[in-house]
Amino acid sequence: MALRRIAGEAPSAETEEGEDEERGVRSEVPDSLSGKYTGSFAYLTIKDRLPQILTKAVDTVHRHRDKFFAQHGQEGVEAEKRAIGLLSKLRNELQTDKPALPLTDGLPDVAHWNKYLEQQQARLGSEGNTSWFNAPWLYMECYMYRRIHEALQLNPPMCDFDVFNEAKTQGFLESQQAIIAISTHLQEVNKKVEGFQETHLKAELMQLLQVALWGNRCDLSISAGVTNSQTFNPLTALESLKPFILINDFEFVWRLLINNKKNKISGTAHTRIDIVLDNSGFELVADLVLADFLITSQLVHEIHFHGKSIPWFVSDTTKKDFDWTLNQMKTSSHPQMSKCGAAWENNVKRGVWNYQDHVFWTLPNEFYDMSLIANDLHAELQKSHLIFFKGDLNYRKLTGDRKWSYTVPFETALRGFQPAPLCSLRTLKADIQVGLKTGLGEQLAASDPDWLTSGHYAIIQFSNSFRK
Ligand code: F6P
Ligand code: MG
Repeated sequence: MALRRIAGEAPSAETEEGEDEERGVRSEVPDSLSGKYTGSFAYLTIKDRLPQILTKAVDTVHRHRDKFFAQHGQEGVEAEKRAIGLLSKLRNELQTDKPALPLTDGLPDVAHWNKYLEQQQARLGSEGNTSWFNAPWLYMECYMYRRIHEALQLNPPMCDFDVFNEAKTQGFLESQQAIIAISTHLQEVNKKVEGFQETHLKAELMQLLQVALWGNRCDLSISAGVTNSQTFNPLTALESLKPFILINDFEFVWRLLINNKKNKISGTAHTRIDIVLDNSGFELVADLVLADFLITSQLVHEIHFHGKSIPWFVSDTTKKDFDWTLNQMKTSSHPQMSKCGAAWENNVKRGVWNYQDHVFWTLPNEFYDMSLIANDLHAELQKSHLIFFKGDLNYRKLTGDRKWSYTVPFETALRGFQPAPLCSLRTLKADIQVGLKTGLGEQLAASDPDWLTSGHYAIIQFSNSFRK
């Protein structure tokens, strides 16, 4: 863990304006999305989905009671009871709209979280306290997952227990047919890729990028932990899904990669991309298929994957999930899946693929804060030629989870966060979207009231500052 400033201290409310000036961006930003807006998606998430996720977590811990007993004897059973007590208390605090409490588990990020709480309180001032429905939604939703982690950390025999592991495993297994379909497709493509003309290369990249994009529908937070897998061959659906891609900046992604490849031919470029991962299960496999193609086509030479260091938003990828997925693929009885798995493990061994995690990804901060509080991570991302940010939560953190108007430029919402050219691949599952053409948001709202949150729409949104 490497947070700059004092052991994990957040940038203070007082300094934020000054630092805005330092970075040359405006400090006036719209209000945060929050459960205080009755009827909003934030409100409904806090009222309905988060308690369901907590109830499932309690149930999961309880169902593993025998396992804890077998592994740790009576101590394991006592830990299970205490963890359930803490999770139930957390659910009660949420449902009765209590203020957030400081963290107490002594992990290195505690000081940061507790300082952040103080700052949120200071910001709210006379507008009430940092309670579940009153504070910014992004903060409270992240806080819930950090408190779930705390409930286990405070009961040492259970420290490494991932309450969401079962659901993630199930998501992967239920997507088996779709995984076979994309693995088979990839193996076929890889056989021919060396002889591909540029147009063919481009078409294939667009295809696999879309599979990775729509894979983002399979997250288990939006479904409150209820199974949400990919049950059909996604390649066959891509054409019919095209009209649902509201922003398609693929051309910019392509141009960047192909220009780099051409430079490489003339002997200069070694292209590194970074993928800030989202969900384990089908989405992760789709991301790895895309990553495989990028390497075999020599559009890219090095890929850094960024995952979470603790269980997060139900299905987000941790190191364990990443390794487990590679192993499942490699040991699969399906030959195309196992070929993929073997190649992917080899990519990791050769250092062509790198997995890394950083505590910043599981803090409540928007990405605008990265250069201030996790400047090692920011510096790492600056080495990239292109960063893909997968999924909805990453989009919320890119844009600060605020009430931006639909037509505000992406760069305005990023507020200067731009370690490298970046591209969001996201299906819409939260009531925020920027960079739309004038009138499109209103038109969609009139025809489909749930367009922002249903996951039926998607974006491939590239940051303008690097457009050439
Ligand atoms: O629970 C709400 C939420 O943050 C939504 O914004 C989104 O549906 C989900 O959780 C996480 O989505 P993703 O896995 O795409 O980041
Ligand atoms: Mg997720």
